[in-house]
Amino acid sequence: MSMKVKEILFKQLLSGEVVSGAELSKQLNVSRNAVWKAISELTKSGYNIESTPKGYKLIAGNVLSGIEIAKYMKADISAYVFDELTSTNDKASELAKNGERGIVVSNMQTSGRGRLGREFYSPSTSGLYMSLILGVDLSLNQGQLITAYTAVVVANAIEKLCGGKIDIKWVNDLFIGSKKLCGILTEASIGLEGNSFDYVIVGIGINIDNLTFPDELVSKCTSIKMALNKEVNRNELVALIADGMQNINEEIKQSNFIDEYRRRSNVIGKMVLVNGSYSAKVLGITENCAIILEHDGQIKEINGGEVSILINEN
Ligand code: BTN
Repeated sequence: MSMKVKEILFKQLLSGEVVSGAELSKQLNVSRNAVWKAISELTKSGYNIESTPKGYKLIAGNVLSGIEIAKYMKADISAYVFDELTSTNDKASELAKNGERGIVVSNMQTSGRGRLGREFYSPSTSGLYMSLILGVDLSLNQGQLITAYTAVVVANAIEKLCGGKIDIKWVNDLFIGSKKLCGILTEASIGLEGNSFDYVIVGIGINIDNLTFPDELVSKCTSIKMALNKEVNRNELVALIADGMQNINEEIKQSNFIDEYRRRSNVIGKMVLVNGSYSAKVLGITENCAIILEHDGQIKEINGGEVSILINEN
């Protein structure tokens, strides 16, 4: 089915309209059956759609909506809301190339991606999948701190709405206890001179509801509902995160947030496996968010890559 019918129908329903199937099929020049199929796909995605004599009506609930996000948000930013996307980062890049700024949110992703070419599990209605398109005024060096700053903002937003204690696993994962709750994927377009950013896309994926994780994730991942037994309003969480990201340029330039990043770190003082190849002790995290490691009697800093905790003393 053409994505367009579902997208247009979804937008109309989100705006609170009662959508007449007959009128929509005329307007888009598609069959009534195509409209019915779009309704049925949205219902399968978890939306409660009532069929009234005048047409279809969306029953609110925990439905992602630009209007609801705007109600909670202080910043004046456009929110582009979709039922289904390949990845919110893909849509955000497409919009950014056309000069748009704002937030892209989707109820599900068919090709959600994580760092190091991994997949990000993104089933319908159970997570929050959002990407911010940011115009940043930072050097490429300072840009390395965008993911770390985002991790602090998201940890604060989750704690504010849901309580709990959110830790950061260097560099971009949020944890509750020993399980991952959220991942962050930052992608940037560098200007032609190669020394500044055209725009930056910060993709954030948070597990929200009860989830049936695939086998390989069951022991590693959790969600807000599963770990804290809290229902969270996804629109409010999007707004809080977006507001928290508004001062990103100043915050990164002052780099005060690094202290909080360190306080939230669950790797400092631990033995970790570095890039799947050697073990080391984490001595600290630098002002540039590099990790300081002690390995074979040598001390070194690394800027990228991945560590996994070997001994959890908690
Ligand atoms: C990671 O865990 O390695 C990062 C995961 C980032 C997932 C988010 S979900 C929203 C945005 N769209 C994507 O395809 N990925 C990011």
